[in-house]
Amino acid sequence: MINKPKGTYDLIGLDSKLYQYICNTIDNYMVNYHYDFIRTPVFEATELFHRTVGDNTDIVTKETYDFIDRGERKITLRPEGTAGVVRSVIENKLYGNRNDALKYYYIGTMYRYERPQAGRYRELTQFGVEVFNSSSIIIDAEVISMGYNILKDLGIDNFTVKINCLGDSLSRNNYIKALKDYLKPHINELCEDCQKRYETNPLRILDCKIDKDSLILKNIPNITLYLSKDSLEKFNKLKELLTLLDIDYEIDNKLVRGLDYYDDVVWEYTTDSENLALGGGGRYNNLVSNLGGPNLPAIGFGMGIDRIILELKKILPQENNIIGNIDVYIMCVSLEEKMHGVKIAQDLRLNNIITEINNNDLSLKAQFKIADILKAKLLLILNNDDLAKGLINVKDNVTKEEIKIDEKEIVDYILGNL
Ligand code: HAM
Repeated sequence: MINKPKGTYDLIGLDSKLYQYICNTIDNYMVNYHYDFIRTPVFEATELFHRTVGDNTDIVTKETYDFIDRGERKITLRPEGTAGVVRSVIENKLYGNRNDALKYYYIGTMYRYERPQAGRYRELTQFGVEVFNSSSIIIDAEVISMGYNILKDLGIDNFTVKINCLGDSLSRNNYIKALKDYLKPHINELCEDCQKRYETNPLRILDCKIDKDSLILKNIPNITLYLSKDSLEKFNKLKELLTLLDIDYEIDNKLVRGLDYYDDVVWEYTTDSENLALGGGGRYNNLVSNLGGPNLPAIGFGMGIDRIILELKKILPQENNIIGNIDVYIMCVSLEEKMHGVKIAQDLRLNNIITEINNNDLSLKAQFKIADILKAKLLLILNNDDLAKGLINVKDNVTKEEIKIDEKEIVDYILGNL
């Protein structure tokens, strides 16, 4: 038998129902918040991720799926969605002559060669948004609060929005210098990875999982003190706006995120129970120009749909009505009953009534059982005698009351009784 690759899973059963519920909710949000759907390739030139996510990040050095294609090109399966969208904005000149914000969203699979565990997969699905051409805190607040509202709307309550400000490049460089000065006498006390990060990516030392409880990290200089006046003022205004929008947030001065392209505001949606973020993002005002595009400020976030599924499974009540339930089950046995049943099923489905019909040669007893599993609200129990008189026997599957309805009025009756 051939098994699935390590770190992947098949989206089946409850997971697949929750996946669709999440994606439908997101799609509806994207209409109201006015974001366009974008799809970019699952594989891109390897160089793209080196130049965006960063040469020294864990994602690029340890986690990418790289291969040479049959035309000798270096290709990488995307580990995240931002790089491809930025490439597309530049390549297709999507910015045109517009002076308002360009707002995109995507839902797609990403690939990271990570050590698999619950909530950490090698194939993961991200919902992401990327907004270009605005450096306004209106957009910062819109994007941060939108992610918050979506999680709440999905039914997730036990999460926190952690926010930090990395500042513009001048502030960040000043901070990195202060950080290195502070850490210099302690280098040997840091974990092996952080000793390397000291040279290659010192900011990442701040959110090291191994050293996080050490005194060295606890007393590390506070990044906020190094922000330029402009960055600090914007950050304070953004906090005010988030409060106005009723977003619960916490300031986390050690939050730096694992990708190199960020500046200014960064944030994560973290669950209270575990250390796995449901999502995270930030501003990346220099990435488009660094990749050869115009000077377009940008901001975005990505959310792990697989992790949201896990979270929802923890909190779903046993008897939930989000998923899988149907409105009507049509019971039929003889060929004549089935012919009628198929026609009625179509009429109901075309009227937005979720309908299922005995789609196998099941006995009436077996059909009752299936209707219960599917939590059908109403049963249409067809029989030849009633059909000959143009009548349909409707049974309420909760109260168990039965009534005979004229076949011509069945759609209206059901619409009025769901
Ligand atoms: P990220 O923090 O690397 O950011 O990933 C975003 C989210 O994807 C994480 O918070 C997590 O929920 C999910 N995720 C990441 N790795 C895995 C995994 N191995 N298994 C399951 N879920 C995972 C980005 O990818 C940025 N592109 C976000 C962004 C967009 N920043 C600006 N725009």
